Amino acid sequence: MAGNRTLAIIKPDAFGAGKAGKIIAHLEAQGFKLVCAKVTHMTVAEAGAFYAVHKGRPFYDELVAFMSSAPCMPMVLEKSDAVAAYRTAIGATDPAEAAEGTVRKLYAESKGRNAVHGSDSDENARIEGTFFFGSAALV
Ligand code: CMP
Repeated sequence: MAGNRTLAIIKPDAFGAGKAGKIIAHLEAQGFKLVCAKVTHMTVAEAGAFYAVHKGRPFYDELVAFMSSAPCMPMVLEKSDAVAAYRTAIGATDPAEAAEGTVRKLYAESKGRNAVHGSDSDENARIEGTFFFGSAALV
């Protein structure tokens, strides 16, 4: 059975542009409940560890530099089948390919500066939630 929590991040581009409130309101209107949230400015080491799964890919260094460049807002969100529901709500990684009405279509600038992150599996939702919130992220 699919889990009911996922890890989301409002990334430095959207957080710095004052879009956090609109993005959270958009998600709450779709039935997501905020379970944990904080504002944090990741170090290079923290961002590198969070995105370790992408190490070696051509965009990794740029991604780590961007995610450690300014504050962001990690959140644990709750909804039935949360990982899939949230990925549908945020749209494709590249906002140019994201569906109308999705968070990335509405608020993202580019594939790199794409407003939000979302876990891609229940296992990664648990790992990523624990990364930021410890056991408070777990059901
Ligand atoms: P995110 O959901 O945070 O997961 C990894 C991130 O890498 C992704 O969103 C993008 O912001 C970023 N990224 C930059 N370039 C690429 C790329 N070519 N393919 C996939 N992800 C990329």
